Amino acid sequence: MFANFDKKKLKLNFEHSAQNYEIAAPIQRLAAEKLCKIATPFIQKNSRILDLGSGTGFIASNLDKDLEVFESDLAFEMLQQNHQENSIKIQTDFENLPFKNNSFDILISSFSLQWLTDFDKNFAQFFSLLKPQGILIFCLPTDGSLLELKSADIFNFNPLPKITDLKTALKKAGFSKIYFETEIIKQSFDNGVAALKSLKRIGANYSEKNNKIITKTILAQFNNFCLKNFGTSTRRIETSWAVSYFIFSK
Ligand SMILES: C[S@@+](CC[C@H](N)C(=O)[O-])C[C@H]1O[C@@H](n2cnc3c(N)ncnc32)[C@H](O)[C@@H]1O
Repeated sequence: MFANFDKKKLKLNFEHSAQNYEIAAPIQRLAAEKLCKIATPFIQKNSRILDLGSGTGFIASNLDKDLEVFESDLAFEMLQQNHQENSIKIQTDFENLPFKNNSFDILISSFSLQWLTDFDKNFAQFFSLLKPQGILIFCLPTDGSLLELKSADIFNFNPLPKITDLKTALKKAGFSKIYFETEIIKQSFDNGVAALKSLKRIGANYSEKNNKIITKTILAQFNNFCLKNFGTSTRRIETSWAVSYFIFSK
């Protein structure tokens, strides 16, 4: 999905944002809560569960404390900030997981699989890791997100996946649909620059293209654009996340 993807840089961004991640991630917290709610009927008491890109543990904190959860993340600092007691933490790349085939009943992930560089290859990997009838449960932001900020055409944002590409890759890997839903979640900021800063604080500022030098004039221009085009009556601005929820079985 990404050309010239720099995974080291992505890892560094998340290492740096780990300490303040939870305060800066209200949308991610909401999405993880909702994902766990819709996932609960599919999880048994003895399910072996792997969280892909667990970060600081929003998923494990919303699951029954008696469940055995493996939390995996590329960024060591994200795992260091993760204080979930009901989990085993593993620093690893979810594109190259160190587990045998048929190891898990549930693979779960919130706001992380948008970083996959190859959906076909990785959904095939996830399919193999699941036991027969195992379930892949995830949510992520899709390409309908942050359209307001993108419309200014001033900054580069990471490409986000298209729902159709995700569904095609899931089908190709052999998965069958149990549940799918998509929703728009709005986030409000003091101004456009505050919205950009919040992206940076959640580690999501990685861009594969080289940004131009950002001057005060550019930032002022961006704030004016945001206020004029999607400012609220209270002179704040609203941005949208298009979040999709997938439950697919092996
Ligand atoms: C936006 S955070 C979401 C974290 C958590 N799931 C949540 O809901 O708050 C994305 C996480 O994915 C992790 N990540 C990104 N690419 C990864 C990869 N290839 N392997 C493992 N983790 C990865 C990042 O380190 C980061 O912790």
